[in-house]
Amino acid sequence: MSFDDIFDESFDRVLSASVNGTDFFEAFYQRFLRASPEIQMLFRDTDMARQRSMLKKSFYSLVAFYASGTVDDVLRRVAHCHSAEALNIKPHLYDLWMECLIDTVRVFDPEYTDNVELAWRLILSPGITYMKFGYDHF
Ligand code: HEM
Repeated sequence: MSFDDIFDESFDRVLSASVNGTDFFEAFYQRFLRASPEIQMLFRDTDMARQRSMLKKSFYSLVAFYASGTVDDVLRRVAHCHSAEALNIKPHLYDLWMECLIDTVRVFDPEYTDNVELAWRLILSPGITYMKFGYDHF
């Protein structure tokens, strides 16, 4: 099976799973906020329900970027709003973001394997690189 297919199937499994009454994106943000005081600080005034739904939407743009090699308007706007001239999200925080995401997949995907982990990393890497690059390129 290709990494694309491994990712698609794992993504379907995590979206339909619930662990202790919590869905995938909710569990991801709980983990991400616990990961560092810097992150907690950045989200101190944020409506997390709205935040989850915004991430869900932009997540498709990250995946689409891997597939098409073209940046859509959603991803461009999100990168700009995280850049040094707006939210000022430092590039190293994306590595933490990715580790928290993988740890959440590990909990939510009952068929998790090394290849599942690698598939998520491969598919999201171009989008993460784009976001990091955008930090000081707007
Ligand atoms: C590829 C990874 C990421 C994606 C796709 C993403 C996506 C988003 C989206 C769609 C929004 C809402 C923008 C809006 O209101 O129009 C947002 C807001 C935000 N993001 Fe991210 N994000 C990512 C990584 C990060 C990281 C690493 C941090 C670091 C802590 C972060 C911190 C924030 C903050 C502080 C806000 C504003 C929350 C508020 O409105 O109070 N994001 N993000």
